[in-house]
Amino acid sequence: MSIRTTTLEGVTTIEIARPEKKNALTQSMYQRMAEAIAAATDDDAVRALLITGQPGIFTSGNDLEDFLNAPALHADSPLGRFMQALPACSKPVVAAVTGPAIGIGATLLLHCDLVYMSDQARLVFPFVSLGVVPEFGSSLLLPQLMGHARAAEQLLLGEPLSAEAAVAAGIATAAVPPEQVLAQARAAARRFNALPPGAVRDTKRLMRAGSLAGLVRAMEAESALFVERLRSPEARAALQAFFRR
Ligand code: COA
Repeated sequence: MSIRTTTLEGVTTIEIARPEKKNALTQSMYQRMAEAIAAATDDDAVRALLITGQPGIFTSGNDLEDFLNAPALHADSPLGRFMQALPACSKPVVAAVTGPAIGIGATLLLHCDLVYMSDQARLVFPFVSLGVVPEFGSSLLLPQLMGHARAAEQLLLGEPLSAEAAVAAGIATAAVPPEQVLAQARAAARRFNALPPGAVRDTKRLMRAGSLAGLVRAMEAESALFVERLRSPEARAALQAFFRR
């Protein structure tokens, strides 16, 4: 299945577990993650979610083979459902970035509440070099966080962002030694057991409310262009080049 979910001590953990493909995400994995977020939202015993990868890799982003095969990317597809479920999640979402986070692996962090990052990890937004455009609201959220000129280094040039820079930009909460990332993220997630869930829920909603309308518009615009670009000769050539390496 490649996504393991467990619920323990008030925390639902979503573990991306496809190390042989560097945790690349397939449609069935998005489906499982969307279902896990929905189940955790409905379960009063769950106070927080935790998303983690494997030692040395968070995720290499969308499965590139899947991109080659004209995937379904509409709102009702597994990817579409995941991209709706994560920003809409009413409970705090904590990420343990155990290694490189590429593509949607990086952009999904913009929808998490607390992000603990291995100090060895990098965030990579390789959309332009793949012939496509940024997704998951990152074309709006990244410039909002970092300013246009700095976000352009990531989104236009595809320059990797170090953990230290991700903390400085407000994308990550803290950069920690790799062997401590999961424990620190889990400890943060468990702290919600001792906090009033209604106040946590309402505070999260208020913190996200300001950018919600813009986010929906940005995601619609990105999705339309992404689908178009995926069919472009630029994207076909870049994807084929990855598998020819
Ligand atoms: N989709 C599909 N397969 C992927 C993948 C992805 N996003 N990322 C890695 N893989 C596969 C490789 O094809 C390889 O498969 P193989 O063993 O069957 O040949 C395996 O995972 C290991 O990857 P490899 O590239 O050999 O590992 P590495 O340690 O040298 O590099 C990465 C790791 C993550 C830096 C590199 O794989 C990479 O750049 N992946 C693509 C990232 C990307 O562009 N994502 C899309 C974002 S929109």
